[in-house]
Amino acid sequence: MRKWLTLRLLIVGGILGILVPLTSGIGSLGMMAQSSGELVIFSGRREPLLTPVLQLFQQQTGVQLTVKFGSTTALAQEILQLQETGRPVPDVFIANDAGTLEFLQRTRGAFQTYTSPQIATMPERFRSSDGSWIGVSGRSRVIIYNKDLVNPEELPTTAFDLIDSKWRGKIAVSNASDTDGFVPWVSALRLTLGDELTKAFLLKLKENQIVILAEQTDIRKAVGRGEFALGLINNYYVYLQRQEPDPAVRNVGILYHDQRPFQLGTLVNSTGAAIVKGAKNLQNAQRFLDLLVSELAQKLFAELNYEYPLLPGVPIQSDVREELPSGELEGLKQLPVSPADLGKELEATQQLLEEVGWF
Ligand SMILES: [Fe+2]
Repeated sequence: MRKWLTLRLLIVGGILGILVPLTSGIGSLGMMAQSSGELVIFSGRREPLLTPVLQLFQQQTGVQLTVKFGSTTALAQEILQLQETGRPVPDVFIANDAGTLEFLQRTRGAFQTYTSPQIATMPERFRSSDGSWIGVSGRSRVIIYNKDLVNPEELPTTAFDLIDSKWRGKIAVSNASDTDGFVPWVSALRLTLGDELTKAFLLKLKENQIVILAEQTDIRKAVGRGEFALGLINNYYVYLQRQEPDPAVRNVGILYHDQRPFQLGTLVNSTGAAIVKGAKNLQNAQRFLDLLVSELAQKLFAELNYEYPLLPGVPIQSDVREELPSGELEGLKQLPVSPADLGKELEATQQLLEEVGWF
């Protein structure tokens, strides 16, 4: 069962060097959303990732927050149902995939537009052209590998080498519900290679006995335990695995695939946030979006979750930067697609994954 979290006190965590206590409790959307000075958020991003930014917002504004955490897909469906039935909606929706926001706007007009001088500082690629969503943090697709099982010189340089029989049964990947990582990558492949080649590639991976796990967290843990040599994953999971309490499972490496001449490049995607159409606390929602793209919040996402800040000038976390080819996001060879492109393709990609039996 999902939980409602009401943050009551004003706090900022250790990373900002200010210490204030936090308490949490259970609230209800109907009651919390009525009065002024409040903000209701649905978040497809997990609580530990978001809490420091929520605390920062409370400290800056004194606004009382009510937050519901869950999967991006389930929360998106709930918002659509609330809108259709005229019930109170959350003010802000945070998704682990900006493409999902683009999809909801294109198909259902679920959001209302907002632009501000702060939001205009973000690169155009990472915000909606109609102002209906903003990118919050960036991530790329990589291969995680177990250093006890694979030497760096044995590693494939392109994801397309994973159909080689030498990797049979040794690769983990996530399923067709993973809008955080795998699904957008397949959309990017479809846009670059076309449906037929993408489908053929996925079928070859299946023939090579690739193992499909539920979530990327399962992949990083299974590779860390040595159950698989390789996993297809978002970059920050590698760093999260290296933080595991048991040193025996931390020996994982990161490979940015498809970076050589004549290779396709990897996908850089973003998380996102949008103001829900029908939001009661509009002004607070706008302030919150402005905070998400501020230097302070961008630093928090970069430092706490090893993601790429999207705001120009905010540094990438030092360990991430060290392993990133050329040390800058711009230096990464990337598939030529944007989060908006991915949103347009979401439905067709899920259909293709169903056709190939990607469960
Ligand atoms: Fe993730």
